[in-house]
Amino acid sequence: METRQKFGFEIKDAGLAQQGRRRIDWAEREMPVLRLIRERFAAERPLEGRRIAACAHVTTETANLVRTLKAAGAETVLIASNPLSTQDDVAASLVEHEGVSVFAIKGEDTETYVRHVGIALESRPEIIIDDGSDVVATLIKERRDVLPGVIGSTEETTTGINRLKAMWKEGKLTFPAIAVNDAQTKHFFDNRYGTGQSTLDGVIRATNVLLAGKTLVVAGYGWCGKGVAMRARGMGANVIVTEINPIKALEAVMDGFRVMKMEEAAKTGEIFITVTGSRNVIDMDHFEVMKSGAIVCNSGHFDLEINVAGLRGIAEEVAELRPLVEEYRLRGGRSVIVLGEGRLVNLAAAEGHPASVMDMSFANQALSAEYLVRNEGRLEAAIHTLPEDVDLEIARLKLVAMNVALDVQTPEQLEYLQSWQTGT
Ligand code: ADE
Repeated sequence: METRQKFGFEIKDAGLAQQGRRRIDWAEREMPVLRLIRERFAAERPLEGRRIAACAHVTTETANLVRTLKAAGAETVLIASNPLSTQDDVAASLVEHEGVSVFAIKGEDTETYVRHVGIALESRPEIIIDDGSDVVATLIKERRDVLPGVIGSTEETTTGINRLKAMWKEGKLTFPAIAVNDAQTKHFFDNRYGTGQSTLDGVIRATNVLLAGKTLVVAGYGWCGKGVAMRARGMGANVIVTEINPIKALEAVMDGFRVMKMEEAAKTGEIFITVTGSRNVIDMDHFEVMKSGAIVCNSGHFDLEINVAGLRGIAEEVAELRPLVEEYRLRGGRSVIVLGEGRLVNLAAAEGHPASVMDMSFANQALSAEYLVRNEGRLEAAIHTLPEDVDLEIARLKLVAMNVALDVQTPEQLEYLQSWQTGT
């Protein structure tokens, strides 16, 4: 039986399904690695009858992951991993054309979001595909009755892995979790080139602001921050980086960026983008010294990086200037502009990362689900990464699809690299 019948669904408008399917098919063209996995899965059915609760941004790329899981024989319930990131036409197509149980509506309130997490757990998943660890955290805090049936989980993000590590330290993680983000074919590409492009895409779609000549502050110089800073510079922005980590700060300096404290950057920045995974990185002290009309937005997983609640508290008025563009008018006539309510601007105001990078991220997700099933009962309750040869194989397949050839090591080179005898 299709999961939409078994577990139900809650979407905005089934009438959007045709448009959704066209866009999902369009994304699929850029996802050759996932396509190969799907073809193998269709033949081998490695997830036959397995129940999966997937919590992800409901995008065209995620739809292709869900199609892949379905081809493998899995029964998937899909919920949104963020209230603003759902593409309603995609949700409709998954329900109407793929028979998948989807609970996701763009703009859903927090109560609905939390209720959907509950529904995902109610389906008694054996595998949890998580993006930010909300499903796993709820499982551990509130639904321990579901725990015995869980084989393991996979986690897409840095933020989610940080939460899993904290759970593990407290002895709360009782099943294996695969840290998809730690795969090289994930964070080197999705976090850097995906976030780099999609974040600026979000800023531009929301505001149509010219980046050339603007002073743009990037908070955080992890892989996401590196991508955003690099692409912003490419568009002609004058980029400042803020960091707490000395190595990353040094990298940013040697990559040619100005690095300073946020309290200084706040005075000169015209556009601010947070990608730290931390909280209150842009806080009240910073709003106080910002230039009037400064634009602030976030591309980290949660909406805590900018203290929007505090800003609301001191605002005399909040006006919507365009969709997802709100002006907070402060006493004395100054204002601060917040994009996408401080939620992920790349998914709220644009479409998230392009399919070509999600191809590798979701190849990792699909193979992680298969890995959990093939190794059921053999993996300890800890955080795992997929074996390195899987990472290399994903990269190889991507290169083949891109028509890029690799050199092959000669026997002489191999011998040299494995020996210590030859030196000066
Ligand atoms: N995270 C960032 N971009 C995404 C996308 N396009 N689909 C799903 N998750 C994402």
